[in-house]
Amino acid sequence: MGLLSAPPCTQRITWKGLLLTASLLHIWNAPTTAQVTIEAHPPKLSEGKDVLLLVHNLPKNLAGYIWYKGQMTDLQHYITSYLVHNHKIIPGPEYTGRETVYSNASLLIEDVTREDAGSYTLQIIKPGDGIRGATGHFTVTLYLDAPKPSISSSNLNPREAMEAVTLTCDSETPDASYLWWMNGQSLPMTYRLKLSKTNRTLILFGVTKDIAGPYECEIRNAVSASRSDPVTLNLLHGLDAPTISSSYIYYHTGEVPKLSCLTDFHPLAEHSWLIDGKFQQSAQVFFIPQITKTYSRVYVCFIHN
Ligand SMILES: *[C@@H]1O[C@H](CO)[C@@H](O)[C@H](O)[C@H]1NC(C)=O
Ligand SMILES: *[C@@H]1O[C@H](CO)[C@@H](O)[C@H](O)[C@H]1NC(C)=O
Repeated sequence: MGLLSAPPCTQRITWKGLLLTASLLHIWNAPTTAQVTIEAHPPKLSEGKDVLLLVHNLPKNLAGYIWYKGQMTDLQHYITSYLVHNHKIIPGPEYTGRETVYSNASLLIEDVTREDAGSYTLQIIKPGDGIRGATGHFTVTLYLDAPKPSISSSNLNPREAMEAVTLTCDSETPDASYLWWMNGQSLPMTYRLKLSKTNRTLILFGVTKDIAGPYECEIRNAVSASRSDPVTLNLLHGLDAPTISSSYIYYHTGEVPKLSCLTDFHPLAEHSWLIDGKFQQSAQVFFIPQITKTYSRVYVCFIHN
């Protein structure tokens, strides 16, 4: 918002030259109580958007308005002007084709670029005595759209219910806030999910099927929000302990007992045997070559994937 203030008197010649009907115009002598204000709508915007500089409390019976880029009211900075009596719009050197001045003095700037950021000055001209102008300033601040984030995980294949996983929303963006989604909804309340102070990092304590995802994170800044692609954790299931079975309980001396390592639930698991703590062979079935009466060993079968 900017208040009216008395401008320097140097622009008389400039705008006289610019406005063909200058002889009809007398710049309004602004009373100090004038409360013309300018409001940008929206107040914060990113490149490529449109902004409307709304003029409030415009006095009645004006002759015209002139918009300038910056705070100088001279020819170089003159964007466009509007003459009330014939509704004539006269563009100036700073006019880019994207500005539209309305009869109520508001100025629309379309497809805003970085170069458009800065302050704007409105000069209002009222028929009357003396030659005076009034200006108001407004600053357009340009924000960049939030970048599309991505989720990085400390471990994409955690063992079920065993391992903690840290999900981080990349990248770190100044003045942004972070939001997380699971299954497209806000995070469930569970002691197994914990957000960092900034919400950029999410820790999962012991991942189970119900909290495996998909997760999405969102970066929000003043002008936009952007969501990551979903990430689902691939749970590795723990293995059930195998059992050892032998074809018979009793063997005769000289027979060749067969021990099997049974792993019903993990058909693809690999098997290994330890005999008296020594690694023997990778196979599901193990044969004891020549059994004797005093034969005694500790057989351990284990599986892995
Ligand atoms: C001025 O006119 C424009 C375009 O018609 C409109 O969008 C805007 O709201 C008007 N401004 C005010 C302050 O009424
Ligand atoms: C973190 O997110 C919670 C909601 O999930 C929110 O209430 C809180 O304000 C956020 N904190 C920050 C620093 O953004």
